[in-house]
Amino acid sequence: MLVKDYKPILMDGAYKKGEWTLENYLKKGGYEMAKKVLAMPRDPATNNVPAMIDEVKKSNLRGRGGAGAPASMKWGFFDFKSKKQRYLTVNCDESEPGTCKDRVIVTYNPHLLIEGMLIAMHTMGIENAYIYIRGEYVVEFEHLVAAVAEAYKAGYLGKNVLGSGFNFQVTPHRGAGAYICGEETGLLSSLEGDRGYPKIKPPFPVVEGAWRCPTLVHNTQTLSLLPSIVRQGGETWAKLGPQKSPGPMVYCLSGHVKNRGLYEAPMLITMKELVYELGGGIQDDLALKAVIPGGSSMPVMKYNGSYVGTDGKEKTDSLDMQMDFDTLLANNSLLGSAAVIVMHERTCMVSACYNLVRFYHHESCGQCTPCREGTGWLEKLISRIYHGKGKPEDVDTLMSVAGQMSGTTICLLSDSCAMPVGAFVTKFREEFKYFCENGKSMVKDAIPL
Ligand SMILES: Cc1cc2nc3c(=O)[nH]c(=O)nc-3n(C[C@H](O)[C@H](O)[C@H](O)COP(=O)(O)O)c2cc1C
Ligand code: SF4
Repeated sequence: MLVKDYKPILMDGAYKKGEWTLENYLKKGGYEMAKKVLAMPRDPATNNVPAMIDEVKKSNLRGRGGAGAPASMKWGFFDFKSKKQRYLTVNCDESEPGTCKDRVIVTYNPHLLIEGMLIAMHTMGIENAYIYIRGEYVVEFEHLVAAVAEAYKAGYLGKNVLGSGFNFQVTPHRGAGAYICGEETGLLSSLEGDRGYPKIKPPFPVVEGAWRCPTLVHNTQTLSLLPSIVRQGGETWAKLGPQKSPGPMVYCLSGHVKNRGLYEAPMLITMKELVYELGGGIQDDLALKAVIPGGSSMPVMKYNGSYVGTDGKEKTDSLDMQMDFDTLLANNSLLGSAAVIVMHERTCMVSACYNLVRFYHHESCGQCTPCREGTGWLEKLISRIYHGKGKPEDVDTLMSVAGQMSGTTICLLSDSCAMPVGAFVTKFREEFKYFCENGKSMVKDAIPL
């Protein structure tokens, strides 16, 4: 099997009791890469470490928070000229349905994240960092706080870290259970003590972020990959996986597979290998119907036949599709947070779509009319169909409402609701039509919502 010989970096020690401690991390050579980077001189003009910025560029590391933006591009836009305080913020909000990859790092490998943060902080001349962690993550938060305390006690955090003359402060901060606080500007609003409202960009956080100061926001996984980049060197690291999507990814496999769970693999893995080899195939040996490939906001893939695309052409989705950023994009979907949600033949796509629309309506912060009203109208329409009162024209109305919700709002939550609805209706139109015409699902023995 493709990933048989791959040795996990992010999930190293996962699910082993007591593995997360500093003592264990040091036994594995922990913090040696941070020491290496701390020995690199900072450029006095910019107060950053150009050699390390270059290494990240060579690695072609892409952010694991959803968009897959190159980390070096974000670092390149950082306002090094500003005389203000600089901040690093770790995004561990992870509230996208199906996504649970960051919690395994903070629970079982928190020092890997702290080491990655130290590397980023020294490289970017940052002294203060926050880890914004999802409010519902109680045990995860406890492990994180304990690990941060250990790092302070051992001199890896605090003043004059390891005699470098630099100070590094890290503060874990719990959210309060709002999906929108995972959006970077919503996260920063919440961190500042305000309501978690996203802000219009530009300015981007790297120019004006926390307390209007330059702020680097990265996903937990992105920062946790930095020690491995230092260890291997950017060029070697870039060779793991496809050229444009290098490095490992933690896939969160959920839904109707036999072996649900987290699987760390290079992005060479295909959908088929994920579902049938790692996932062990479909529950009760039923037929595969559909897969949402990257968290609930990403367009669904159809595996029980062809469909007519929005361009009027007949299409089929391939199970041999490689699970990397660019291949998913080329297949009209996105890798997002790599949360792979599998649905078998007894899944009613109207009820699945209703389920996820309710989530987005509930989580819309309400600032923008297309999102506030659009998510509400989508929920009302699908609810009407689901409860047997749909009208034949409702299917087109769904597409029309979704079509007006993209690209017109402060943040991407609106698109995150419109995109999957558009894909569900386009690819499973016959199910929506049947429900409207007959007041019930066309799926035999459909599993209840
Ligand atoms: C509605 C919404 C929710 C988001 N939730 C998360 C999240 O839980 N975790 C995360 O890392 N990024 C999330 N993002 C993406 C962040 O805004 C940001 O792009 C990311 O943290 C950048 O990290 P990266 O550069 O390491 O990918 C979300 C974006 C949107 C629009
Ligand atoms: S798109 Fe939705 S969630 Fe984002 S700022 Fe606008 S109303 Fe809030």
